[in-house]
Amino acid sequence: MNYSGIKDNVAIVTGAGEGIGYAVAELLVKAGAKVVLNDVDSEKAKSAAIKINDLHSGGCLPFSGDSGDVSSVNALVDFTLENFGKVNFIVPNAGITLFGNFLDFTPDSFEKVIDLNLKGAFFLAQRAAKEIIKQKERGSMVFMSSQVGIQAYRHLTAYGMSKAALRMMAKNLACVLGKYKITTNTVAPGATLTERTAKEQPDYEGIWSKLNPNQRVGRPEDIAKTVLFLLSSDASHINGQTIPVDGGWTVVGKYPEDLQ
Ligand SMILES: NC(=O)c1ccc[n+]([C@@H]2O[C@H](COP(=O)([O-])OP(=O)(O)OC[C@H]3O[C@@H](n4cnc5c(N)ncnc54)[C@H](O)[C@@H]3O)[C@@H](O)[C@H]2O)c1
Repeated sequence: MNYSGIKDNVAIVTGAGEGIGYAVAELLVKAGAKVVLNDVDSEKAKSAAIKINDLHSGGCLPFSGDSGDVSSVNALVDFTLENFGKVNFIVPNAGITLFGNFLDFTPDSFEKVIDLNLKGAFFLAQRAAKEIIKQKERGSMVFMSSQVGIQAYRHLTAYGMSKAALRMMAKNLACVLGKYKITTNTVAPGATLTERTAKEQPDYEGIWSKLNPNQRVGRPEDIAKTVLFLLSSDASHINGQTIPVDGGWTVVGKYPEDLQ
């Protein structure tokens, strides 16, 4: 993938020890960017960065920390500036998926979802925007929404709300940051096979692939390729948008024959 404006730029990807975030970090390094790879699990962060540096010619540094915690988010940006001198791209990808019945959902679970999925992304975007504006260079942010941030799913009320809010954040930030040559967009994955989803449901692929017209689940690479495009200067006139990467899931609803 030869998108312009990626090489020699600096990116922060959160929750990237495995899954979608890892695929984004790897593709960025492959395209010549420098990447700070964050994960709350320090071993995962370290081994993911080593793997990426082995696969490519280096340029990936691990940073362990909770990306839902504002002081940790600031430390992540400080670390990036100390090591790479600037930041151009952020992909606040870390997210928590807490299933539960609305009627029983606890304040503690609600806070966990909002802190990581929303507060962490908001304050990472705020701090990164300040730095990018100072640098007077192009910047881009891609937030990780979800198919359930577009269509309601009864077991994921708080999660769905947080993912819908990310889409509105991208729209709002487009209004605020567009004049500084910073774009803000979101990608909304459908059911995607990652280490986590495979663990959550043994026949994940069999069950979830039936729900979209493409008849397959997403792969982390499907999402990563879209993120790379949105970060690149080839996408510099796309701003405040959400791109679903879901095999067409969001374009279909259920029909009578689906209910049999
Ligand atoms: N997998 C899917 O089907 C799917 C679908 C739609 C949206 N998403 C979204 O994509 C993103 C990535 O999903 P995934 O399934 O690849 O990831 P995941 O849930 O497997 O997590 C990836 C990494 O994030 C790390 N992490 C967890 N909490 C963290 C924290 N507080 N700070 C930093 N790192 C943390 C984990 O240690 C893990 O290594 C999430 O935001 C998720 O909501 C995933």
